Amino acid sequence: MPPAVLTNADLSTFLDTSDEWIISRTGMKERRIAHVTALELSTVAASRALACAGLQATDVDLIIYGSCSNEEAVPNSASGVQAALGATHAASIDLNTACTSFLYGLATATAMIRTGMARNAVVIGVELISRYMDWSNRNVAVLFGDGAAAVVLQASDVESGLIGSVLGCDTEARASLRVRGVGCGYAGRGITLGDTTWDFDGPVIFKRAVRAMADASTKVMQQHGVTADDVDLVVPHQANLRIIEAVAKQAGVPMAKVMLTVEQYGNMSAATVPVALVEALETGRVKPGSLLLMPGFGGGLTWCSMLVRWGSRVTPLGSSDRALPPLTTTALDLVNSIRASQDPHGRSATGLQSPVFAEQHR
Ligand code: ACO
Repeated sequence: MPPAVLTNADLSTFLDTSDEWIISRTGMKERRIAHVTALELSTVAASRALACAGLQATDVDLIIYGSCSNEEAVPNSASGVQAALGATHAASIDLNTACTSFLYGLATATAMIRTGMARNAVVIGVELISRYMDWSNRNVAVLFGDGAAAVVLQASDVESGLIGSVLGCDTEARASLRVRGVGCGYAGRGITLGDTTWDFDGPVIFKRAVRAMADASTKVMQQHGVTADDVDLVVPHQANLRIIEAVAKQAGVPMAKVMLTVEQYGNMSAATVPVALVEALETGRVKPGSLLLMPGFGGGLTWCSMLVRWGSRVTPLGSSDRALPPLTTTALDLVNSIRASQDPHGRSATGLQSPVFAEQHR
């Protein structure tokens, strides 16, 4: 996780909002703002995941970079992680289904392992939303944070890992979440690429997210002959505490069995589920053989729910000394630097030209 913490009080210094509003509507108190690139976050996460699995980078034959925060369109981001790791034998894929990108990546890597196309896969969930957030829009700016985590999947004769998945997409609500100004569709339309505005209909997303995640969870449990009682831990996408509570209720799982990170990290889009999974492991909430339920939704509106049977080991085989560079500023200064590069109408630039980030993007 990037170390710089942006509090609700920090947000109140430049937005008409309050700690009370944000906590009561979302459950969020803090989120992280990265002082480095998404590539650096991903490389640290992937290095640590490989060390936990006792693998060398050269053992990896597949890297999936799950994210909607791409460094650039060409070359893709996964190839940058491949180069930074020295994973010279790995196929490298970017996968963007917005907030479900990690979970869709998990399904893709699992399918490739099952069909013999890969043996050792690294799946990354990473997001650097602070760089293209419209910081003048309180409807969205309070909700998101940066982060990254990664897992390693390995071919095995034992039935463990991703044992069930239900995936879909609610395109009727496609227009309810759109970041304008990023993508080739904006070229030549009088919009400077990188100047972003967010079309965001929170209440619509809220209702559809609850329904989709609850229905997908019920379906995946039915397909695999398990009930909510059999589930040891739910590791859901964390866009809003109230969404998670509604999904848990509809799926019949008590909140005591739900892993929560929304209070300290907010919504990190694709990074949310893997970060919560890592924290569940590190706090002893994942036991050998645990059955995990992972529901998610994201822009599209893509949705899914996955069943994971954890393997027999919950302790890392090794550790990596790869770490982020030291932090020399505050999260609020990082955000103010991005804001300073936004135009007076609140349209955000990527922040890449700002002095604080120039060094990282040289
Ligand atoms: N601070 C203060 N007031 C605010 C803020 C803020 N940060 N943001 C909005 N408001 C105001 C609005 O202007 C509006 O005011 P009005 O009633 O005078 O017009 C009012 O609060 C909105 O109130 P509600 O609609 O009742 O807010 P709601 O309870 O629906 O909460 C929220 C809004 C948090 C966005 C909620 O709808 C939500 O969480 N939606 C889904 C979350 C989501 O979409 N996350 C990202 C999805 S992307 C992904 O994860 C893939």
